[in-house]
Amino acid sequence: MVIQEKLSTEPKMRTRDVSIFYGDKKAVDSVSIDIPTEFVTAFIGPSGCGKSTFLRALNRMNDTIASARVDGRIELDGEDIYHSSMDVVQLRARVGMVFQKPNPFPKSIFENVAYGPRIHGLAEGRTELQEIVEKSLRRAGLWEEVKDRLEESGTALSGGQQQRLCIARAIAVQPEVILMDEPCSALDPIATAKIEELIDELRGRYAIVIVTHSMQQAARVSQRTAFFHLGRMVEYGHTSDIFTNPTEERTKDYITGRYG
Ligand SMILES: Nc1ncnc2c1ncn2[C@@H]1O[C@H](COP(=O)(O)OP(=O)(O)OP(=O)(O)O)[C@@H](O)[C@H]1O
Ligand SMILES: [Mg+2]
Repeated sequence: MVIQEKLSTEPKMRTRDVSIFYGDKKAVDSVSIDIPTEFVTAFIGPSGCGKSTFLRALNRMNDTIASARVDGRIELDGEDIYHSSMDVVQLRARVGMVFQKPNPFPKSIFENVAYGPRIHGLAEGRTELQEIVEKSLRRAGLWEEVKDRLEESGTALSGGQQQRLCIARAIAVQPEVILMDEPCSALDPIATAKIEELIDELRGRYAIVIVTHSMQQAARVSQRTAFFHLGRMVEYGHTSDIFTNPTEERTKDYITGRYG
């Protein structure tokens, strides 16, 4: 199944026949999808169906797993991200990732955000670096809460604040894509609502992909949904259609809670 939509711009990312193996075991089976900047894309599906594996392939995070192998083609702006000429450090700045468990560095709030721009040479001097830090924290909806405590450790923040700090850290290096793997699963409902609002504010500026087990969350934050089952992308479409009128029986079973 190849998904091609009429979009005003080229999709930011495009995958074709992507299969991913751990040793001999196929975890993702021939997934082809376009990921546009216009919308938030949600990946849903039962545990173990390959959502995280596929998501991690989009910025070559799987490279760190010795047994993992990726077949097929993954493009960012038409460029093959697995080509030998691709700079992986640069790629991971362009395609940022936010994990399930907030993972701030054991450094100050300021340093958590400043680190990336500094190593990527995005700031001329201290003032510019401070500007980037403030802008990123503002965009992540965290500035007001931390502006007077930038030198405190990032790990001293609440879970929800830590997750917004991680989003600020991803934003600070001017990514084009942000991948989020169950970013709210460790958060309470209020912190979750804040992240969801934030995702909505970031929509359109970055291509955003979110993996979630919460159907309500997928419905609230995404405009396109891909349903995965046993390594395959079974169905893709407008989020509202997937949830109200899915084509595939397996999607129907999942969204009505028959398994998962
Ligand atoms: N590092 C690994 N080494 C070997 N097998 C793995 C590894 N990571 C995942 N797998 C296997 O690949 C399959 C897909 O796992 P993956 O974590 O991508 O699923 P998922 O859809 O993200 O599940 P969940 O919803 O529970 O997070 C599973 O069978 C899993 O056991
Ligand atoms: Mg997962």
